[in-house]
Amino acid sequence: MIHRSVLAKEIIQYLKVEPNKNFIDATFGQGGHTLAILEKTKPNGKVLAIEYDPILYRSFTPSPGLQKRLILINDSYTNLEKIVKDNNFSPVHGILFDLGVSMWHFKKSRRGFSFQKNEILDMRINPYKEKIPAYKIINEYPEQEIEKILREFGEEKFAKRIAKAIVLQRKEKPILTTLELVEIVERTVPRWYRKQRIHCATRVFQALRIAVNNELENIKKGLEQSLKVLFSGSRIAVISFHSLEDRLVKKFFKEKASNNILKIITKKPIVSSREEIITNPASRSAKLRVAELI
Ligand SMILES: C[S@@+](CC[C@H](N)C(=O)[O-])C[C@H]1O[C@@H](n2cnc3c(N)ncnc32)[C@H](O)[C@@H]1O
Repeated sequence: MIHRSVLAKEIIQYLKVEPNKNFIDATFGQGGHTLAILEKTKPNGKVLAIEYDPILYRSFTPSPGLQKRLILINDSYTNLEKIVKDNNFSPVHGILFDLGVSMWHFKKSRRGFSFQKNEILDMRINPYKEKIPAYKIINEYPEQEIEKILREFGEEKFAKRIAKAIVLQRKEKPILTTLELVEIVERTVPRWYRKQRIHCATRVFQALRIAVNNELENIKKGLEQSLKVLFSGSRIAVISFHSLEDRLVKKFFKEKASNNILKIITKKPIVSSREEIITNPASRSAKLRVAELI
């Protein structure tokens, strides 16, 4: 497995995963969390797992022993309510959202998620369903629109400068690859910004990925729908990896708590232990929030 599941022990604990209970894994990835849940819900507990990426979805083959307890669907969690109904999946004791993309996307998908590899700037999680790859945004959107994407979805300080540089460059020739974009960012931002711990193109790549996949809107839709399939006492756990996601989850939980729909279980987000960060550095920025349906 290329992706190492984050906060797996904490998920088992906070979702109260026990024998014979049923759970939804809304973001299956390579199945690490699902397999951990299936292990703890033996002998009869089930998992309904959803993965939007058709290639990643196809790459998983359940062992014969799991086939009766795992339903794996290639769809978006924005259709959660329908997926649950279509599969007669009930009762649901808890739902997990492990947001974003997986290590597999950065390392194996060849779709331009990583600024460390030279690939076509695509970034679609589901290339069959999403219509606008990242290179279209970069080559066709107006400068102001690109600036807005970089500012809103990347919180990029130099959004204006970078958008301007992109538009200037594309007049010469289309910008199609990750490294072409990295080169533009590197020569546009100030020297001190290039010298920081995180690479200066990190936020630009994050912003494009969020825009291409409509990620923030999707999270809201998924969370809203999860409320419709849970029952009183069952829980939602959300792992986020950057502040935009975490703020959105926090706001959603707060709003529902003030309407007496949810009880917040984690007043402060749970973060990875030092041991986990040492063995899996990608877990450094993970934040887990949990709430319970009232
Ligand atoms: C951080 S990874 C999950 C890793 C997984 N928990 C594991 O242990 O392997 C997030 C996954 O969610 C998927 N995803 C993103 N948006 C989705 C959506 N709208 N519906 C379903 N899956 C989605 C991504 O393709 C990615 O595989």
